[in-house]
Amino acid sequence: MRGQDPGGLNTTRRSTVLGAVAAALVVISFGALSQDGASPKIVPRLTGDEPPMADHRIPPLDRPVVDDIRRMRNYPEQPPIIPHAIDGYQLTINTNRCLDCHKREFTEGSGAPMISVTHFQDRDGQVLSDVTPRRYFCTACHVQQTDARPLVPNTFQDANAFGRKR
Ligand code: HEC
Ligand code: HEC
Repeated sequence: MRGQDPGGLNTTRRSTVLGAVAAALVVISFGALSQDGASPKIVPRLTGDEPPMADHRIPPLDRPVVDDIRRMRNYPEQPPIIPHAIDGYQLTINTNRCLDCHKREFTEGSGAPMISVTHFQDRDGQVLSDVTPRRYFCTACHVQQTDARPLVPNTFQDANAFGRKR
C-alpha cells in the first residue's frame, strides 16, 4: 500500500490524521466526563429545566403599555418611553413612520412631541436642518413598556432621594 503513494507524503499525512483523531478523542472524553452528572450544576441551562428537544408551550408575549400617557423620565438624559402602539410602523432606510408624526414639520398635524434638538446634531455638534443619521433608528433608544413582571427586584432610586432633605 505504501508503495502506491508517490513521494512518501503519506507518512506525514497519516501522522497528522492520527494527531487529529487523538485530539478529537481527548475532547470527546473530556465532554463525557463533565456531563456524567457527578459534578454539581453550577450554571442554570439557558433552555430551562425541560429537555431542549421536547415541545414546549410558549408563554404569551407581554402586552405593551399603550395608554398614551407620557411617562416621567427617571433621569434627564433618559430616552422617553414610547407610550403608544407601534405595531406595523415601518422603520427602514427608506421609510420612517415615527418621523411622519414626530418630525418638526408634522407635529402640528399629529400633536406628537417634536424630536428634541439633540436629534438634529451630528456627532461633531453641528446642528442639521433634519434628523441626524445617528438618531434615525428611533427604536434603538426609545422602547415601549410592557406589563411583564420584573425578573429581578428593582432597587432604583430617583436622584432626588439622595442628599439633604429640605
Ligand atoms: C400617528 C402619529 C405617531 C406616530 C406614527 C408615532 N408617534 Fe410617537 N407619539 C405620538 C403622540 C401623539 C405622542 C404623545 C403621547 C400620545 O398621545 O401617545 C407620542 C409620544 C411619543 C413618545 C413619548 C415622548 C415623551 O416625551 O414622553 C416617544 C418616545 C415616541 N412617541 C416615539 C415614537 C417612535 C419611536 C415612533 C415610531 C416607532 C413613534 N413615536 C411613532 C404620535 C406618533
Ligand atoms: C441614540 C439614541 C436615540 C435615538 C436613536 C432617538 N432618540 Fe429620541 N431621545 C433620546 C434621548 C436620550 C432623549 C432625551 C434627551 C434628549 O432630548 O436628547 C430623547 C428625546 C426624544 C423625544 C422627547 C423630546 C422632548 O422634547 O420631550 C422624542 C419625541 C423623541 N426623542 C423621539 C425620537 C424619534 C421619533 C426618533 C427617531 C427618528 C428618536 N427619538 C431617536 C435618544 C434617542
